[in-house]
Amino acid sequence: MALFNSLSTRTFSQSARMSAAIQNVTVIGSGLMGAGIAQVAAQTGHKVTMVDIDDAAVEKAQKRIGDSIQRIAKKKFGGESAEANKFISDAIGRLTISTDAVSSVGSADLVVEAIVENLDVKKKLFTQLDQAAPSHTIFASNTSSLSIAKIADATNRKDRFGGLHFFNPVPVMKLLEIVRISETSEDTYNAMKTFGKNMGKVSVLCKDNPGFIANRLVVPYLLSAVRMVERGDATTRDVDTALKLGGGFPMGPFELFDHIGIDTLLFVSEHWEKLFPDDQAFKVPPTLTKLVKEGKFGKKSGEGFYKYGN
Ligand code: 3HC
Repeated sequence: MALFNSLSTRTFSQSARMSAAIQNVTVIGSGLMGAGIAQVAAQTGHKVTMVDIDDAAVEKAQKRIGDSIQRIAKKKFGGESAEANKFISDAIGRLTISTDAVSSVGSADLVVEAIVENLDVKKKLFTQLDQAAPSHTIFASNTSSLSIAKIADATNRKDRFGGLHFFNPVPVMKLLEIVRISETSEDTYNAMKTFGKNMGKVSVLCKDNPGFIANRLVVPYLLSAVRMVERGDATTRDVDTALKLGGGFPMGPFELFDHIGIDTLLFVSEHWEKLFPDDQAFKVPPTLTKLVKEGKFGKKSGEGFYKYGN
């Protein structure tokens, strides 16, 4: 028996609901972030449709969700038990998968986009979804580096558009950055805030600045750690040890690079280097470009600054 529902076997009510309460959530993109968002939304009682472009991507996400939800259940219920099994099966039962973004938003109260960090691709997606989704549906992007206002430009619902920026691993990290553009309505902001609270997250509000709050501070820190090693001041391992044991950080900068994805951080820093050409903090260190050219993206590819087993 399939563990997850598919759209062909299970559909939601098509009726448009004008209530501000978010119950039906569609998550577009099933990578690290999308899968994490879908999982936590389902765990916290929302009906979720998780969408990606092909079966292979969705299957990878299902495996990741299956593993993660077991860890959460184990922690929540102190080991294997009937309650833990019910928690897992209830959450999985609320999760539907699809490879068709347009047909998956018909009953959505909220759409969270977590696809590739490419403005044109995101705009194209939202233009299509804007025509297919009910008028009350709120659109949000989980982008970590692009302008929410520029993405929202692709739609006719800027008052129902904002940023919902989660942190990796989503099932563990408590923070949610909510980004308001000038057009985001009070109702939309309040609905996003309530949704974050219902997901068990603590939300902070930020303007539509590059990197919002956390990444704006963390990315320059990560880049300067690379420069430190490039200068030969210390080794990768010693920099990580110093920040963990001397700074109380859960991961050193190079472990964090490998955790987030060096390709993702290269993309973000190249984008910001163009936005802030005079700011040395955003200059891309050559090591990043080299690692990405070699396919060393971090944990997800098996090697980054460190090597990983299976
Ligand atoms: N799903 C469920 N539970 C998970 C999990 C996952 N994917 N990953 C870790 N956990 C749980 C484990 O079960 C464990 O629970 P326990 O304490 O009850 O046993 C706990 O988290 C700790 O996990 P581990 O023992 O495996 O490993 P660590 O102690 O090293 O913790 C970590 C892992 C939570 C990732 C921790 O190292 C950490 O907090 N690192 C910093 C992560 C961070 O900074 N994230 C933000 C990145 S920036 C970002 O996401 C923004 C984006 O725009 C790029």
